[in-house]
Amino acid sequence: MRRRTFLTCAAAAFGAAARAPLAWAVPKPYSWEAAPPTTNSEAFVKWMVANRGEEPHFLAQRFGRCQMLVVNHDVLDERNKRAFLMTPREEFTLKRNQGRAYDHAFLDIGFGVTISGPHVVSRMTSSLDVKLGEKVLEIGTGSGYQSAYLANLTDKVWSIEIIKPLAERTRDVLDGLIGRGYSEYQAISTRHADGYYGWPQAAPFDKIIVTCGIDHVPPPLLQQLRLGGIMVIPIGPPGAQRLLKIVKEQETDGTIKVARVDIYGGRIVPFVPFTKIDGDTIKGTHNQR
Ligand SMILES: C[S@@+](CC[C@H](N)C(=O)[O-])C[C@H]1O[C@@H](n2cnc3c(N)ncnc32)[C@H](O)[C@@H]1O
Repeated sequence: MRRRTFLTCAAAAFGAAARAPLAWAVPKPYSWEAAPPTTNSEAFVKWMVANRGEEPHFLAQRFGRCQMLVVNHDVLDERNKRAFLMTPREEFTLKRNQGRAYDHAFLDIGFGVTISGPHVVSRMTSSLDVKLGEKVLEIGTGSGYQSAYLANLTDKVWSIEIIKPLAERTRDVLDGLIGRGYSEYQAISTRHADGYYGWPQAAPFDKIIVTCGIDHVPPPLLQQLRLGGIMVIPIGPPGAQRLLKIVKEQETDGTIKVARVDIYGGRIVPFVPFTKIDGDTIKGTHNQR
């Protein structure tokens, strides 16, 4: 499959200095059928070292965090559990935070933004219920971790980032990983743009995941969601969003209905704001109030 790239791949100087590529190559080609053992840590680490060539130290931490995700109902089925276990979060953090990659915490990724914690990412991803072959749009590429997670659930992912040097740095990270054998990331198309307007050329999408906070559902995103499609989005005032799952449905008379459910027990989760571009500058947010 051809990787779809919409960015120049020049590495931002910041990114090159701040990240430490982990020099492990993937020993076996990616397969949708391949799944690591999920019942005990040693078997998981052994399988991952043999099949993915990753570092035992991080693998043990990943397995431990996965157990907590299951207990907390943040991963809801075996497919999502596999996706979490197959995604090397440590490759997407800054060098100084690699040791904290599997902490129950959001982490700084530079440019004033963060990578969400593993529980929030997993709760949002599981709630999307992504099936192989479905088209998924992500707003807020950030570190690229969420896109990589999604690429273990489907082979069609589009992701938009508003901060240009971050979009470029992350494209570089993904390309570096593809070069090391993470061929599943070829499914990820990235673009630097204001995600409020979605990606009309690739629409409609089966699923949309928004990873920045806003006080309403952007109408262009709703329009680009197919009927029966699901959007997961943090909605609320600045710094105090609730995680909502939105299902776009059609009534028998043809009117569009939007069903909403809180997927995180009403908990408030502060998200990076859904900003907008004015000319070449990021200025203000898309909030209406
Ligand atoms: C919580 S962070 C990143 C999370 C990301 N999904 C990850 O895995 O690291 C939210 C991201 O949304 C981006 N963002 C904010 N407003 C945006 C917009 N209008 N369009 C696209 N991206 C936006 C931010 O720059 C930031 O990188």
